Amino acid sequence: MHAYQDLVAQAVRDYEGFWANLAATTLDWSKPFTKVLDETEAPFYKWFEDGELNASYNCIDRHVEAGNGSRRAIVFEADDGKVSYVTYADLLNGVSRFANALKRRGVGKGDRVVIYMSMSVQGVVAMQACARIGATHSVVFGGFSSKALNERLVDVGATALVTADEQVRGGKTLPLKSIADEALALGGCEAVKSVIVYQRTGGEVAWKEGRDFWMHELTQTESDQCPPEPVGAEHPLFILYTSGSTGKPKGVQHSTGGYLLWAAQTLKWTFDWKQNDVFWCTADIGWITGHSYITYGPLALGGTQVVFEGVPTFPNAGRFWDMIARHRVSLFYTAPTAIRSLIKASEVDSKSHPKQFDLTSLRILGTVGEPINPEAWVWYHENVGGGRCPVVDTWWQTETGGHMITPLPGATPLVPGSCTLPLPGIMAAVVDETGQDVPNGQGGILVIKRPWPSMLRNIWGDPDRYRSSYFPEELGGKLYLAGDGAVRDNGTGYFTIMGRIDDVLNVSGHRLGTMEIESALVAHPLVAEAAVVGRPDDTTGEAVCAFVTLKRELPVGEDATQLASELRTWVGKQIGPIAKPKDIRFGDNLPKTRSGKIMRRLLRSLAKGEEITQDVSTLENPTILEQLGESR
Ligand code: WTA
Repeated sequence: MHAYQDLVAQAVRDYEGFWANLAATTLDWSKPFTKVLDETEAPFYKWFEDGELNASYNCIDRHVEAGNGSRRAIVFEADDGKVSYVTYADLLNGVSRFANALKRRGVGKGDRVVIYMSMSVQGVVAMQACARIGATHSVVFGGFSSKALNERLVDVGATALVTADEQVRGGKTLPLKSIADEALALGGCEAVKSVIVYQRTGGEVAWKEGRDFWMHELTQTESDQCPPEPVGAEHPLFILYTSGSTGKPKGVQHSTGGYLLWAAQTLKWTFDWKQNDVFWCTADIGWITGHSYITYGPLALGGTQVVFEGVPTFPNAGRFWDMIARHRVSLFYTAPTAIRSLIKASEVDSKSHPKQFDLTSLRILGTVGEPINPEAWVWYHENVGGGRCPVVDTWWQTETGGHMITPLPGATPLVPGSCTLPLPGIMAAVVDETGQDVPNGQGGILVIKRPWPSMLRNIWGDPDRYRSSYFPEELGGKLYLAGDGAVRDNGTGYFTIMGRIDDVLNVSGHRLGTMEIESALVAHPLVAEAAVVGRPDDTTGEAVCAFVTLKRELPVGEDATQLASELRTWVGKQIGPIAKPKDIRFGDNLPKTRSGKIMRRLLRSLAKGEEITQDVSTLENPTILEQLGESR
């Protein structure tokens, strides 16, 4: 704790010096930076701007050059249990060949490449290959629909798309290439000149000569030498789409230098990372957690990590624990939703209980993505960690690039359900609607008071939205608004996150905008109006609940069940299966004020099954509450 407090004090005393020292010691720069933080165009901050580096060099070459080429970088376990090992030398070979293949297809510095892939070594290779040549990648989670993929291809202006023939999860296949074909056929992305396909299953795929190429065929004939292209520290390493409070997803743009620094540094601090650790982050590379704690952080440190293709419940709910035991995992990082579903499963099937496995290799456990309820925390600590492993509850976001508020294992006294204290250099605070600090013990809005190196740099193509979403005038225009509510403990000052304060839902740790789902619903020919809210769910944290009015008479009985199922499938097609509403309730209309504003507060109460005790006298149509409250 003293060491932590020293670092915190250092950052307060000399903010730029603190960050400059970390950046100079954690990363290798081909041209050292002389400037640290540039605030002249705030909130468009620049870090280490005149420095140059290459992310792929930092993640791969420097370890090989140091004589560690034969060190294991990735232990890959396929859905069916087949295990393969990839060394740093193998990675250098594969990434260089793929980078050369991209160059031959005309992809260069600053071009955008969309990666729509399953969890695979090839997915990591594709990301690293982009970084190597200075192309900016945008990974789209393999669970998104063709329409969602199309929107992202168009918005980011991609010139190449990397995908797989099929993805395999939980014994089932999903035809990624054919979804990608559909996405391209939807139009607007004619700039995509090459589609490069990783052959995962050998399943049947349609082929467009001259546009489509097999990854293995392209790389076979390429040289394994590809000098890493130095880029400025501010060069966009990647763009990752995430949900906001309007219908259109935001392309969160990250830098190269500041981002990579924090991905590596946080892994060192938060997981007390050591050279002989085996790290396993169960996230998908389609999310920020997979970017920072699979593709970049562990490789930048020259570490060994497990990458897993499948799901925690296949072939049974003991899969995670079995894998930890077989691969001697020491640092394990997963989501509260996974923990909660495995608690349930172990109650039904005692053979899948963690107690049945040798988990003595574990040293530190982590969670991310949503608040963890104290019961799940305690179960994780006791049953997975044997009561010996600290649990680090890490609060951060797509926009923050890496951990922000988290315990330091062994140092910070733990409190289940609290992410405890900000990392050194992170100036987190809780304020009111005017940007004034609120006293401890009083809830408020979570903000970060100073820019930090791994923060997002912009929303791709929409600087106005960047400014208004993250640095709103109401808070004075200088505080970074996280979009979460929080409270600090009276005694310890520990932070507890109280969930989103905007129209963003968190379902199984996946961020979904209510407006995104509403737009998807109203695009259905039968839907007149839709309002989407979240309600608490034991397993997924939050569940999507949709209130819908139709352009035809109110459905009842079997008719309503069928229509609800049709709408679920529809939303799955429009956005992806993760966005399918759990509840759909039909009504003649929605509760609105006389000025026509939908009263979401009431819908939230209805979704939870609560008695409405609020004043409803301003409602245009109070009787609708009864109807919506009943129909399930
Ligand atoms: C939520 C995931 C409570 C929060 C890395 C945040 C959390 C959103 C925690 C970002 C945590 C993330 N405790 N809530 N430890 N971690 N969140 O962008 O609401 O997918 O704003 O990034 O997840 O989700 P995102």
